[in-house]
This record gives sequence, C-alpha cells and structure tokens, in this order.
Amino acid sequence: MNERIPVNVTIDNQVMTISWDRPDKKNALTQAMYGAAADALLDAENDNNVRVVILTGTHDCFTAGNDLNDFLNNPAIGDDTPVARFLAAIASFKKPIIAAVNGPAVGVGTTMLLHCDMVVAADTSVFSMPFSKLGVCPEAASSYLLPLMAGYHRAAELLLLGENFDANTARDCGIVNRIAPSAEYQTLARKLAETMAQLPPNSLRTTKAFLKSSMEQVVSTRMKEEADVFGKMIQGPEAVEAMTAFTERRPADFSKF
Ligand code: COA
Repeated sequence: MNERIPVNVTIDNQVMTISWDRPDKKNALTQAMYGAAADALLDAENDNNVRVVILTGTHDCFTAGNDLNDFLNNPAIGDDTPVARFLAAIASFKKPIIAAVNGPAVGVGTTMLLHCDMVVAADTSVFSMPFSKLGVCPEAASSYLLPLMAGYHRAAELLLLGENFDANTARDCGIVNRIAPSAEYQTLARKLAETMAQLPPNSLRTTKAFLKSSMEQVVSTRMKEEADVFGKMIQGPEAVEAMTAFTERRPADFSKF
C-alpha cells in the first residue's frame, strides 16, 4: 500500500488550504511533501473554483523546515527536484496566498513566507533561518527578498546569526502582516482569505502580477544560483557536522574548519 503523504489539501468557499501534517516530526518537509504541495498549487492555478490559497501547518507548528535526515542521506539537488518545483510554484503562483503560521517556522518554513502575499502569525510563532548554523547558504531567493523586505542590516542579522525571532520581530521585518493569539490566527487567516475570494478574481491576479513583476526575474535567477551553491554545501563537511550533531542531539563543533 502507498504511504500517505502528510500534506492535506481541502477546498472550501473558493479557498484552497494546503496544510503540512506531520506533527510527530514537527512537520519537517520531505521531498514527497514538497511534491504534493507543488501539485496542489498547480491544481489551484488551473481551478476556477480556487481564488485564494491558505498555506498552513498543524495547530502549534508551521514546519521545522527541510527534513534533516533527507538532507543528510538523500539530498535533493538540481532543478527538477520536488523542492525546486515547490519553490518555483510558490514564487510564480498567480493567485493570492495567505500563510497562517504558529510555532516553529524554520528554514524554508520562514523563506517560503517571503513568497506569500500575506502572513498571519500566532503570537507564539518562532521563526528562524539557521542556514549558517547548518553549514549551508540561504535558499528560496531569501538572500534577495529578505534585505528588500527587512533592510540590509536586519536581513544580515537574521541570516548570519540564524537565531530564532518572534512574531513582533517578523512583523518589524515586513515578513508578517498580522499577529493574533494562537487560538485565533487560523480564523483570522480564513477571514482574510474569504474576503479576498469575494473580490473580482481577475483584478486580484492583475494586482498581484504588478506587485511581483519587478522582482520576478531576479527571484528566479537568485533562487537557481542559491540552489546550485546550497546543493554543493549540503554535502560539504560543515553541513555534515551540523546535521550529524542534530541527529546525535549534541552541539555542532565547527572549530576544526
Ligand atoms: N528534520 C527531521 N526531523 C525533525 C526536524 C527536521 N527538520 N525537526 C524536528 N524533527 C524531529 C525530531 O528529530 C524529533 O523526532 P523524534 O521524536 O523521532 O526524536 C521530532 O521531530 C520532534 O522534534 P524535537 O526537536 O524533539 O521538538 P522540539 O519542540 O524540542 O523542537 C524544533 C522543535 C523545530 C525547534 C527542533 O526540532 C529543530 O530545531 N529542528 C531542526 C530544524 C532545522 O534545522 N531545520 C532545517 C532548516 S534548513
């Protein structure tokens, strides 16, 4: 029997909701999960009954980012991988996407938000882009989009130190639109999505196209450049030490590099 891919996709009131659903592993993303989400976005693009997409996780966790065991044992490298398809799909998606975030939003869990049109965060959200701590480089065009949104110094702090930051900091950096108590963030995201879904769809798509048009080409090029370097670094000694340390539940030791 085929194993269920832990991504839920539902359509209700012209809003598609894509939810990461692997709570026992903090919704860490496998290649199969990226693939399922990329397929759902493609379906949403082509389905006239979908006007807005909500991207979310489980009630107390958005996602712990890429599955580190996948990174260690089976890194997906190249343009034709499910992760590359997912990132390309979210970056070029033509209808509005609203992210609803709570708990950890690690790595790609934060960088995918840079491609969404609105982000609603629970006040208990914890964001991070720990690429430097993992011995790799930024991905998903975050090295371009984050300075654009947050300003250079804030982007440099978040990407070089790779430390956790809260919803207020994320809002100050322009990554989050609204903050709500964790009992209410899903309702708020839903309300915003349903409000958008009632607006003229062509007008929404055209507005989004103009909002994104000056960034589109650079984002696509930067995403590929970062992915090339990331693909090499993920197999390098710094990354192997970082990920082995995580699986062995010990601090990483970079003193020998
Ligand atoms: N890949 C694979 N498994 C992961 C994971 C990841 N990115 N994140 C968490 N898990 C697993 C843990 O190994 C653990 O599995 P186990 O119960 O079989 O031991 C389970 O999910 C719960 O994680 P745990 O660390 O115990 O939860 P926590 O609440 O203490 O911490 C996080 C949550 C997200 C802060 C922490 O798990 C973490 O830092 N994860 C790594 C995030 C990361 O570096 N992602 C890559 C970014 S590029």
